[in-house]
Amino acid sequence: MQFGHFDDEAKEYVVDRPDTPRPWSNYLGSTEYGAIITNHAGGFSFYRSAALHRILRLRGNAVPLDQPGRYFYVRDRDSGDYWSTSWQPVGKPLDTYSSSCRHGMGYTIITSEYSGVSTESTYFVPLGQTFEYWRLKLKNTGKAPRRLSVFTYCEFANVGHLINDLTNLQYSLFVSKAEARHGMVAFASHPHQPFDPADLRSAHRYWMNVAGAKVVGIETLRERFIGNYGSYERPEAVVRGSLSNFETAGENIIGTQQVDVELAPGESRELIVMLGLGTPESHGVAAVREFGNPERCEAELARVKQSWHSRLEASWIKTPDPEFDSMVNVWNAYNSLITYAWSRAASTIYNGERDGLGYRDTVQDFLGVTPLLKEDMRPRLELMLTGQSATGGAMPLVRPFDHHPGKEPSPRPEEYRSDDALWLFHAVPAYVAETGELDFYHKQLPYADEGSATVLGHLRRALEFNLERTGMNGLPCGLSADWNDCCKLGYTGESVMVAFQVCYGLDVYRGIAQRFELAAEVSWAKEQRAKLEKAIQAVCWDGDWFIWATGKDGTKFGTKQMEEGKVYLNTQVWAVISGVATEAQAKRALESTKEALATPYGLMLCAPPFEKTPRHVMDGVVYNKGIKENGGIFNHPQAWAVMAECLMGNGDQAYEYYRAYMPSAYNTRAELREIEPYVHSQTTYASVSPNAGKSRVPWLTGTASWSLFVAVQSILGIVPEVDGLRIDPCIPRHWPRFEVTRVFRGKRLEIRVENPASQSRGVRQLRLDGKVVAGNLVPLSALRDGLVVEVTLGA
Ligand code: GLC
Repeated sequence: MQFGHFDDEAKEYVVDRPDTPRPWSNYLGSTEYGAIITNHAGGFSFYRSAALHRILRLRGNAVPLDQPGRYFYVRDRDSGDYWSTSWQPVGKPLDTYSSSCRHGMGYTIITSEYSGVSTESTYFVPLGQTFEYWRLKLKNTGKAPRRLSVFTYCEFANVGHLINDLTNLQYSLFVSKAEARHGMVAFASHPHQPFDPADLRSAHRYWMNVAGAKVVGIETLRERFIGNYGSYERPEAVVRGSLSNFETAGENIIGTQQVDVELAPGESRELIVMLGLGTPESHGVAAVREFGNPERCEAELARVKQSWHSRLEASWIKTPDPEFDSMVNVWNAYNSLITYAWSRAASTIYNGERDGLGYRDTVQDFLGVTPLLKEDMRPRLELMLTGQSATGGAMPLVRPFDHHPGKEPSPRPEEYRSDDALWLFHAVPAYVAETGELDFYHKQLPYADEGSATVLGHLRRALEFNLERTGMNGLPCGLSADWNDCCKLGYTGESVMVAFQVCYGLDVYRGIAQRFELAAEVSWAKEQRAKLEKAIQAVCWDGDWFIWATGKDGTKFGTKQMEEGKVYLNTQVWAVISGVATEAQAKRALESTKEALATPYGLMLCAPPFEKTPRHVMDGVVYNKGIKENGGIFNHPQAWAVMAECLMGNGDQAYEYYRAYMPSAYNTRAELREIEPYVHSQTTYASVSPNAGKSRVPWLTGTASWSLFVAVQSILGIVPEVDGLRIDPCIPRHWPRFEVTRVFRGKRLEIRVENPASQSRGVRQLRLDGKVVAGNLVPLSALRDGLVVEVTLGA
């Protein structure tokens, strides 16, 4: 079933019918003032941290998932009939009510048509501001005059603190206050404590204003609006049609203001709601004066669009697969930028319980968006490098607003994960290749706890961290986890995935050292890699695939003798990515992967799923079979499988894997996946589960960044390097051609790839502005704005 469509021109996903299998969400604002909104106007807002500085409340894990939100209730004062300008929460029957929702980059527009009234509500946070706009346009499309009342509704989180707000009710209900001041409503937690307008973190002060019509009433206490036994669907105040102007001290505070409008046939009216941080006196009055009019609101919306859309100009593709294009051009890019911004801290699923930047997640989140962020990513990259401890391992979590390099406590040994800093071997070279800033490797940066080193020194330390912590076979220990959170191998068990990652890292390090002519470093990296490769080959190849771990008693996990967790995705694909697998091993390991793990929705993380393996080895056993780390389709590693297949030149197989989990490929059968068909997700139930095909944890996932990365670099083969742009596609054979516009080092390149011989891989000829050049690198010397890069694939 199809609920919406991609509008790539407008860079929007349009939800055409509102009864989506789940609420489908979008993001507003920035890392200063952030917000989530769904196609039912559900969602919440927060300042910097969804956990600690929550503005609007979401009641988590309810049905539906997204209530309350930012609602407009409309009531016909003559008939008493009422509805909401988003289908939910009132939920009028869909044979009389229609609604669409345009999720764009940083804004959402919801329309409704009901009983001769059309509405359009637009939600966004203007650039650089700490308030949100809700703009409502109402139009009488009927033949008779209409007398309507409009009620706003949202619920504030008490004390701005997620957990206290939802659980510590003996306290949080008694510190809130709301009152009308300066023609708006002021809200506070701890209203009698001093307020520093310059510190919005501790402020817990909000204001809300409605412009465009006279406010005839307010309500600040939730139960007065909803009723003691009412609901969002049927709020008593809306049924009644009037508010009580009660200014509450204590309890649950809400943002409700009523305006009455009269509309002649064909007449429209525009209301501008603004809700922001601070008091009316400190922020609200000035903000309303400057921004509280339709012209400014429209201009600010244009600025938001322009700011996001201009990011996308760095890369634009046209292939024979429009579903792939919608992802790569708009949604995967936006998804990756949002994940980069919010890490795993705020969505309808991540309700705020996770705060800060998870180390390995964040370092991987750079990858997809390096071409879009360019130099802008440097502060974040430096932040993460300073989150590395002097041991070479990393802090599990970096708090961007509260990070003090050199002064952070060293992680306790049991806190280290074995893979954290290894992702730097992807992120740092990607940054340098994109920007050409080779000097970055020489930048001196402190460690989190003590001492400092150049960026190159940080990288070496990262390798040493794993090389110094090896088990009985000489492979890196798994520590508290490798990429797989559930892999519990400690300081004796060994992680084979990490062994491959260290090999990869050593290779990258050698390459950098070579460029700087550091002969001793080059030989160190070579020797270490040779030693580790030997150890891997001695214990990890099981004939048809690679094992995934060794336990502290020497047990090998992932052998043919094992009843569960026999074939494990990550070690097969990383054997290939790291270049450790021989040609024959690589081929066989990928065949085994397909045989054991492929499902119509993607590759299982392992099979058969775990049932008896002890938790202290594989904690994934706690999950039901076929989801998450227990043989679920974990989407993040799907991209590595695509990458591995491309490295082997198997363009058809790579593309088949890519489409199996590509969200847009499910747009016409969205009932299967249930979640947003425009964003990636963490995990999908595998065929062994009764929930097969349903996908979960949308938006904030490492899947986003890696999927974009492999789409552009592995499939389309547009690979930035220090010395130029390499073109090395590995596409499905049936693609006759594709085009890419790519801004590289400030120059716009028009890349046209022809595939006359129906090949997957291999550049036969490269022409720059019509002139044939050898190889497949567009060198820096050739870069100019408008350069036409023509590529012919073939043997
Ligand atoms: C989740 C975590 C990530 C981890 C993955 C696999 O996505 O955010 O850190 O690597 O699960 O366990």
